[in-house]
Formats: sequence, C-alpha cells, structure tokens
Amino acid sequence: MASSDSLLEVRNISVYYGSFRALEDVSYTVGPGSVVCLLGGNASGKSSSMKAIFGTVPLRTGSIRFEGQRIDGWTTAKRVAAGIAAVPEGRRVFANLSVRENLELGACTLRDGRAVRTYLDAVFDQFPQLRERQGQMAGSMSGGEQQMLAFGRALMSRPKLICMDEPSMGMSPALVSRNFKLIKSIRERGTAVFVVEQNARAALKIADYAYVLRTGSVMLRGPAEQVATDPQMQAAYLGHTPLAATVPPAAH
Ligand SMILES: Nc1ncnc2c1ncn2[C@@H]1O[C@H](COP(=O)(O)OP(=O)(O)O)[C@@H](O)[C@H]1O
Ligand SMILES: [Mg+2]
Repeated sequence: MASSDSLLEVRNISVYYGSFRALEDVSYTVGPGSVVCLLGGNASGKSSSMKAIFGTVPLRTGSIRFEGQRIDGWTTAKRVAAGIAAVPEGRRVFANLSVRENLELGACTLRDGRAVRTYLDAVFDQFPQLRERQGQMAGSMSGGEQQMLAFGRALMSRPKLICMDEPSMGMSPALVSRNFKLIKSIRERGTAVFVVEQNARAALKIADYAYVLRTGSVMLRGPAEQVATDPQMQAAYLGHTPLAATVPPAAH
C-alpha cells in the first residue's frame, strides 16, 4: 500500500564507492505527473542518485519507495517492469540497430507483442521524425535525434516515471530548448520526469520542484521558481559563472 502521495520516495540514502562517499544522507521525492530536477556541478553525485534508483549501485543507508512499495532490494529489471524508465547519460542508443529496433528494445519488459505495436505507433505519433527514420541506423543520427530516440525508447515501456541523466549534455541551446519542451509534453500526458542536470537554467524553466546537490549532499531544495531566485543559487550557478563552466566536454 502507498504510504504517501509520492510516486518515488528516496529517503536518507548514502552511496559509497569503496571508502569514497558519493552520496550522504540524500532524500528527495517525485510526485505523480510532476517534473523534478536534481541539479549540481560535476561529480556532485547526480549520476549516482540516478543509479541508486535503478539499483546499479548499492545503498549503504536509506530506502527507496515507488508507489509506496520498498524497491531498493529489487533487481533493475523488476524496477523497470514496475514503471520506471531511464534515459541514460550520453543517450546510449544502440548505434548499429535501427531506430525501430532501438524502440522495440525499450518494450522488452512487455510480454504482449500487440502492445509493442500499439506503443510503437504512439511513440511515432509523438515523434514523427522517428517514424520517418525508423529504418535508419541510430548511430547515423544527430545528437538531438538520438536524444529523441532515447526518450522514445524510454516511453515504450509506458513508464509512470522517466529518469533522465543530463539530457542537455553536448546539445546546442536550440536543441536543449526543444528537448526540454518534450519533457513538458511528457508531463502533460501524466508521466512524471526526474531530470538530473548541470544546466540549472534550462531545467528550472520546466521543473516543478528542484534539489541541488553539492559534493553528495542536498544543499538546497524547493519549488523551481524559488530555487531559481535563491541568492545562493544565483551566486553559485545562475550568475556569470555557469554551472557547467569547469566541466570538460563529454567523452563521446
Ligand atoms: N564507479 C565509481 N567508482 C569510484 N568513484 C566513482 C564511481 N562513480 C562515480 N564516482 C565518484 O563519485 C562522485 C559522484 O559521481 P557522479 O555521481 O557520477 O557525479 P555527477 O553525475 O554529478 O557528475 C564523483 O567524485 C565520482 O568520481
Ligand atoms: Mg553524471
């Protein structure tokens, strides 16, 4: 039974790599159908937070609940089947598979072949460019198109929650704004989105609620418009020194 109204509830988690502490007592919640962003500079623990949701890193402390059920002991596959989908960092589409094959893989937790067809049509309706290019090898598409494909692939499992790791990475400002509009349109259809971002400015424009990580701890949290105007946030991330200023370009 659900213990609260939240869809995802991450409570007091700590993650270690050996003796190195990447996350310390971090808590956040995502409500059904909301957009929540987790902001922070390089190495602040954003990807580790995302990995914790999917169980690809172990928790040292804390718990994770999805629709009130404790999921932190579950396999990754079981979490995905329960309704959590990932758009991983760097998009990670299968370069040597076609657009359509990439999308079909997103539905691999579904048992019903007819549903796959229906869901594929729904994704094609949402992203007509993917329909046009369904036979094209994913690796031959532009970064923005691959991001769209990774997004469409996540939608193929009909998730209740999509977790995205730095969707703006390596994107031009025009593409960032297009992709973030997609996030808004997903939310309008009732799917919650948890977006991990260094690009605070872009993420705060579309988020309902924001958390800011600094070296593995939540330093600030609140409604997005409040975080956007927070003096600490302005000084650190939204002023003349952009959040990502010291970050080297992605290695892909
Ligand atoms: N597999 C790993 N082994 C050891 N240290 C890691 C590993 N993954 C991440 N880290 C360290 O944990 C910290 C947080 O990393 P990460 O969660 O990837 O941050 P972010 O996504 O915000 O850049 C960093 O200091 C990083 O070097
Ligand atoms: Mg990361």
